[in-house]
Amino acid sequence: MEIDPESLASGDRYKLLIGSVVPRPIAFVSSLSPQGVVNLAPFSYFNAVGHSPLALMFSVSKKPNKTDKDTLRNVRPVSEGGMGEYVINLAVESYIQQVAEAAEPIPYSESEFDYLDLSTAPSKVVRPPRVAESPVAFECKTLQIVPIGEFSIVIGQVVHLFIRDELVDERHRVNADRLSAVGRMAGYDYCYTHDRFTIPNGFSPEKKSDSQRSS
Ligand SMILES: Cc1cc2nc3c(=O)[nH]c(=O)nc-3n(C[C@H](O)[C@H](O)[C@H](O)COP(=O)(O)O)c2cc1C
Repeated sequence: MEIDPESLASGDRYKLLIGSVVPRPIAFVSSLSPQGVVNLAPFSYFNAVGHSPLALMFSVSKKPNKTDKDTLRNVRPVSEGGMGEYVINLAVESYIQQVAEAAEPIPYSESEFDYLDLSTAPSKVVRPPRVAESPVAFECKTLQIVPIGEFSIVIGQVVHLFIRDELVDERHRVNADRLSAVGRMAGYDYCYTHDRFTIPNGFSPEKKSDSQRSS
């Protein structure tokens, strides 16, 4: 079928998107309100921006009542009432249940850490704490927030990286089995990252003959 996205209801666009763009990594974002409340929420519209500088992005929708989600309020620059910093913890198998639970909307004045079986550890450079159970935590400062319709793309520069010693070798390669990252599929589905295969880059320099070429 051929689909004009604008002809669809928003919920149907959502289902096509999250069912097709898979698997998505999950940012487990810890942030701090100016009043000192630590917030925690998962975001799977999440990816790397680049490594010079080391930068990450995640995208946040509005709450059903069209106001900003608590994370977005906190990561906004100080001039816009936020703290301008946050931590992206990675979602891994050992606490994926708590990642899903942290999506529960609770009042801005309350902390998800008071409800979940997770603890905080102090960050090195930013004020929001990291998730102590997370093997990787990117301490970020907000570089830019780009509005795209009802969404806001939060782009942050990583100002400090915590990663457990046993995950990294002397050449800075991360051991994927020990990391045990989890990806998000559609709906309530998730996937593991331990079923992998290897393919070298590039092709051999022989052009396909005309008959092999498809139109
Ligand atoms: C695995 C997972 C991924 C999610 N990804 C996103 C996302 O990319 N963007 C978004 O706006 N909400 C996403 N959500 C929903 C938010 O986590 C949810 O709205 C949460 O209550 C926001 O919390 P906050 O108001 O404390 O920031 C996701 C939920 C789950 C369980």
